[in-house]
Formats: sequence, C-alpha cells, structure tokens
Amino acid sequence: MKQYLTSCHHFLHGADYNPEQWIKYPAILDEDIQFMKKAHCNVVSLGIFSWSLLEPEEGVYDFAFFDQVVEKLTNNGIQIILATPSGARPRWLAEKYPEVLRVGTDGQKQQYGLRHNHCFTSPVYREKVRNINRRIAERYQDQKNIILWHISNEYGGECHCELCQQAFRDWLREKYHNDLCKLNDAWWTGFWSHTVTDWQQIHSPAATGEPDDVLPGLFLDWKEFVTYQTTSFMQEEIAAVKEFTPQIPVTTNFMGPYQHLDYNYMRNYVDVISWDCYPTWHSERGDVIEAYSIAFAHDLHRGLKQKPFLLMESTPSNTNWFDICKLKRPGMHRLSSIQAVAHGSDSVQYFQWRKGRGGMEKFHGAVIDHNGKAEGRVFEDVKNLGILLERIDEIAGGRTNAQAAVVYDYRNRWAIEDAAGFQNVDKKYKRTCINHYKEFWKRGINVDVIDLSHDLSQYKILVLPMLYSIAEKDIKKIEEYTANGGTVIATYITGYVNETDLCYLGGFPGGKLKDVFGLVADEIDSLNPGDRNTVRFHDSQYEAVDYCELITPVTAEPLAFYCSDFYRGKAAALRNQYKQGTAYYIGCRDSGELLHAFYDDVIKNSSLRHYELPYGVTIHSRETEEYEYLFVENYTTQRVEIGMSEAVRDLENDELLPENATVAIDGYGVRVLARPLRKKA
Ligand code: GLA
Ligand code: ZN
Repeated sequence: MKQYLTSCHHFLHGADYNPEQWIKYPAILDEDIQFMKKAHCNVVSLGIFSWSLLEPEEGVYDFAFFDQVVEKLTNNGIQIILATPSGARPRWLAEKYPEVLRVGTDGQKQQYGLRHNHCFTSPVYREKVRNINRRIAERYQDQKNIILWHISNEYGGECHCELCQQAFRDWLREKYHNDLCKLNDAWWTGFWSHTVTDWQQIHSPAATGEPDDVLPGLFLDWKEFVTYQTTSFMQEEIAAVKEFTPQIPVTTNFMGPYQHLDYNYMRNYVDVISWDCYPTWHSERGDVIEAYSIAFAHDLHRGLKQKPFLLMESTPSNTNWFDICKLKRPGMHRLSSIQAVAHGSDSVQYFQWRKGRGGMEKFHGAVIDHNGKAEGRVFEDVKNLGILLERIDEIAGGRTNAQAAVVYDYRNRWAIEDAAGFQNVDKKYKRTCINHYKEFWKRGINVDVIDLSHDLSQYKILVLPMLYSIAEKDIKKIEEYTANGGTVIATYITGYVNETDLCYLGGFPGGKLKDVFGLVADEIDSLNPGDRNTVRFHDSQYEAVDYCELITPVTAEPLAFYCSDFYRGKAAALRNQYKQGTAYYIGCRDSGELLHAFYDDVIKNSSLRHYELPYGVTIHSRETEEYEYLFVENYTTQRVEIGMSEAVRDLENDELLPENATVAIDGYGVRVLARPLRKKA
C-alpha cells in the first residue's frame, strides 16, 4: 500500500498502537494482531512515544522489541505509519541537557515531565531528535509495509528561553532587512515610548514584561516566529528520515482550528495533511451544532492542500479529558467516522488501540478495553465500520468539488483576538466563521475552508468573516477575484488593519476594498449582551446582536436597514456590483435568522447546487472519474426521508434506487450513494 499516496488509494482503518507499554505481557502482541484483523483494521501508527524503548541510554539503541513488532505486523498485512518519537523525550536527555526543557512566559524553566514541551530551538534537542530519527529510518528503510511517516505528535506551544529569544531576534533581523526603523514602524513603537534601539532589547511577549496586546506588531511577529521555528524543527525531523526513505511521504498530526500555529504555512512542508478529531457529541449544545463545527474543521484540513487528508486520531467511544466524558450513542461512531470520509478523509483511525493499565490515558476510549476481549459494543462498532470502509473503498482518493470557500485565517485570528477593542471578552472570530459555513452545510454545499494564500479561481463564492487583518497583497487578491466575476461576502470588522496590525488610513475597509464593497464603515457600535437592534431585510425583521457597524454607502446598494437607536435607517447590509463580480457586506452580527435569509438570496442567485434538507441533515460529496458519491448524514435522533431526483446506488448494500426514489436515513444514520457522472464529451 505504499501506492496509497500515489495512484491506488484504499481507505485506512486503524489506531495508535503502543505495544511498548505491554512489553512485559508477551502474549499481547499476537493477540492484538489477531484482534486487528478481526476488527477489519489495516494500519497502525507505531512509535509515537517510544523513544525510551529505542534509546534507553544516550547513544545506546535497542530495536529488538520493535523489530519483532514490525515483523509481526508486516507478516499479518497490517500497514505501518511510523512515528518519530520527538513528542516526548526520555528522562536521561532532559537530565543531561536541561536546555531541551522549555521556559515559560514567566521566565521559569520547566522540570522534566509531560510531553510536547521541548524547546524547538535547542541545538541539542534538534541533534538528538535527528539522531534517533535517522536510526529508526535506517533500521526500517526496507520495510515495504511502512506507508507514511508520522512526524512527532501534535506540535504546539512555545518556549521563551534565551536560545529562543536569540533565534527570534535573528528572525526579525532577516524579516526587517536588518533595519530597526522598519521594525519600529511596523510595531508602532512610538506608542508609550517603546522604541527599540538595539536588536538585543527585543524580548518575546511576556506576562511579566510586554504583554500580548500592548504592541500587537511584536505579538504577531512572535506568533509567526513560533510557527516558523516549529516548522524548521519539523523540517529537520523530516530531512533525517527522508535521507533513508525519500520515497515514503510524511505527515504530522494537526489539531483542527488550533489557534497557535499557522497550518497554512506548515502545510507546505508535509506531503499529506492529517489531523486528530475529538468532537463532543451529545453535549448540551446539541449534535447539530457539533456536526457543522466538526465539518468546518474537516474542510479546513482538506482545504490546506485542497486534497484528501487523513483522520489520524478519533476515539472509538469516549475521551477521558472532556469535562464530561460521554459515550457515543448507537450510530454515532459510524456517522461521525463517515462524516470525516464525506469531507475528504481517506482514513478512520483511533486513539487508541488498547487501553493501558496505568498512566493518565487508561480510561480513554480504545478499541480493546481492559477486559481484553475482541467483543462488545465498541469493538462491534469499530469492526462494522471497517467492513463499511471496505464496501465503499472505491471512494478513497476521491476529490471534493468545492465551489464555495470560507476564509479562516490563523494570522487574522491572532490579530483580532489580540486587538483591544470592540468586545474584549470574546470577539467570536472562529464561531462567526463557522456560522457562515453552516449556511452552506445545511444546504448540502461543499465548502473549502482556506486562507488567502490559496488559488481562488475555482470558487464562485468567497466568504470573509471578520477578516480584520488583511495584508495589501491579499486586498489585491480579493479585488482581482471580484473583478473577474467572483461573489465575495464580507462582514463587520473587515480590513481594519494590515498584517502587523497597523490601521488602514482613509476609511475602512482598507485600500481598494472600499471600491470593491462600495462603502465606508465609519464606526462600530458594540452591544451589551442584552442589547438588540432590529434589522429590516426584505419585509421581515431580524435581531442584531454584538456588533452594528455604521456604514456610508458609496456605490453599494443597501439591502437591509437598522430599525432603532440613533443609527436607525442606516444600511445594515449592502450589495455592490464591482466590475464583473458582486460584493456583499453584512454590517451587523445577528442571532442567525438574518444570515439564513441573506444566504437564501445569495445561494439561489448563484449556480451552486444546493438542497432543501430537514434540520440536522446534510449532504456532502466526493468525486472520482466516473462517480459522484453522496453522503447523506442525519445528526438528529429522528428518521428522515429525502427524495433523490436521480437514480443512485447505495454502496453499502449494493441496492439500486431509481429516479425520484425516497431515501430513508435513520436517526444518527448515514447513507453512501453513488451517482454516475456524465462522461465529458
Ligand atoms: C491527542 C494525542 C494522543 C492522545 C489523545 C487523547 O490527540 O495525540 O496522544 O493523548 O489526544 O485524546
Ligand atoms: Zn527555547
């Protein structure tokens, strides 16, 4: 299955596997492998935290146990995603080289413990990681069963040690072409007399020094540096394994809309995108909200490379780290796993294969529980999912045809959440992106979640929720996109600042965006939690909450109006024809109904295919050369029926459904339907 990433795709089904925890239980390995086969699993992620086993003392390597594991998995047809072990280090390493330990924003060096907490600058840590990675790659380079490298685990966090400070300064010197004036201008350091007169004066943002929000330019550069430095660490890891196995692709497991690293930068350095997905099903906010929030995250990972991705971790039952660790209700394992596939995943993988006896994750869901049996509700769910994946295997590798995109920009998130103003408790950037995304989700429209570094030409609709910080080059991109016939939708707080948080002068939104949207946003009113304004759109009234921008139309035509307060009668939403395209601007946040009505208009006037679906039901699709595959997902507990205008084939039971058939979907059910694509002439 090395071909997995090249031509011949198959779905992967498996789990993180930690046999090193069971080294004193020799029967477990053979038993696990038998159980994997029984569960229709075809892959494991191996070695994620195995450093102490593989290098028990500095420079002393012991592969005996791993050799046996790799051999047995191989002989039994289980493929391996092999990890580099940098996510957690052995004690001896931290003891001998304390520089590998992180320093916090308070200047305190951490003691040995936890994981994912190395200094990403430390030359010693980089060297030790390179060494162990090279040893592992060298040892297993000829193993045909290794299909992918799993580089480290969930990179994250930051270090404020002296090595990192110096690396930050060096990075800034390069960024600002060794010109302190440029840096002072970008950071607006005339504010509070914070002018930098020597590169050595620069220090990362710190609770006890310069807090995040005083000089946002410093903060944003620090965040960018953390992504850069983490990526450079990752690149060294990758180079070490590629030295021996250039043919094996690499991934690292991302964490959804995790706000501390810019995955749109990191994506360029891995071959395949993968991520770890832990929804909170059955919580008080309800499964439908959870479903479209998770769908958004899947589409964000697919959007990173605009290609299929891997679901690297999910739980077969529950986690052990939510406030309330609820079990998945019957049907939900299948539904949420197929949700990932519907959005472009070529795998369903779990954390973890087997629950450990000790340690903090012993009560985290697993395929094999402490009873040690390949049976029971969870095991059956996993096994049945494996069987289903085999039945729908022809979809693996299938592309997603998305003609709409919602922009979720990590750097904008840093900027807007750091900005002092508007509403300081929670500006709700991510939630706003998801609320716009939802309007497509509930109408069964595929969406890419991207940032503006991507090619935009394939999209008919581009949504920019709360894109507060926009670099000039991106303003140009939006302008060109619209001029060439695109439909763009922006909201309140768009284009206020550039990429180092300097306000655009001459009116918001900045620069050419004023022409694109045909308006000027003069002021923004923030509402108390209990405050409401009323907005009139067509002949109905809607409720505005949180933000109301006061807008002066220039060429734009007002579509909706405020009905109360001193800005009564002013425009609350506008449309502007800009060259070949159309630009919409929504000046207020609303409680949901206005967005619904607004998108009804926009989508009906577009050529996007969409459905009228019952509440909580959605359709997503993937395509191969010959077929379009429709995934009909029901996140409610009620059975629903949907009429399909064209003939389709149910892939699970190979049943042909004629034109205009009614398709029933049980509560928490999902159906996978194939529709032949008309051959292009
Ligand atoms: C993360 C980690 C895993 C495990 C799971 C538990 O995703 O990568 O090692 O800790 O969380 O949910
Ligand atoms: Zn450091």
